[in-house]
Amino acid sequence: MQPSDVNLYLVGFMGTGKTTLGRAVALRLGFRWIDSDHEIERQQGKPISEIFATQGEPAFRAMERDFIDHGHPAEKQVVACGGGLVVQPGMLALLQSKGIVVCLHASIETILRRTSGNRTRPLIDVEDPEKRLRELYAAREAIYRRSGTVVLTDGRPLAEIVQHVLRIHRREAHEFVRAQARARHA
Ligand code: S3P
Repeated sequence: MQPSDVNLYLVGFMGTGKTTLGRAVALRLGFRWIDSDHEIERQQGKPISEIFATQGEPAFRAMERDFIDHGHPAEKQVVACGGGLVVQPGMLALLQSKGIVVCLHASIETILRRTSGNRTRPLIDVEDPEKRLRELYAAREAIYRRSGTVVLTDGRPLAEIVQHVLRIHRREAHEFVRAQARARHA
């Protein structure tokens, strides 16, 4: 595999900009942009909210794992991962075995602003979404901070964040390909 073909996985909390940034980065890399939520919805033929309601969260988490395991191409993909995907035990290592992992980070205030009024996310489609978001954020923040290279998205122009993520991909993809070659020859 060429370093320039190594997949890029964007992880991070809801509302950190994975979709917007993922599209822009994919365009620059000449990669395909895919979103784990959209792919799961397409495969299942129903929205995430319905999967949660009828099959439950554990079933959705298993679908996320399947998608990462063998549900997408191994090269030239920018994958925007649903916010809880990397929180599951073992998922970070799985992502890192497949490509470069970048974790987008934003303040809770930014996240509250970006997610307000959106009813498509079942975890925060509750009576007091702000309370729920704050709880989830507090419970997960430490995990995100350990998930790949962390990039702050608060108050920065999109073009600057794109450049930052492209630099990380360029730098880390070389090491990724070398590590793969070492593993093959071990
Ligand atoms: C979730 C985040 C959502 C989606 C699902 C659960 C989470 O993705 O996968 O509603 O557990 O944080 P986004 O981060 O794209 O909103």
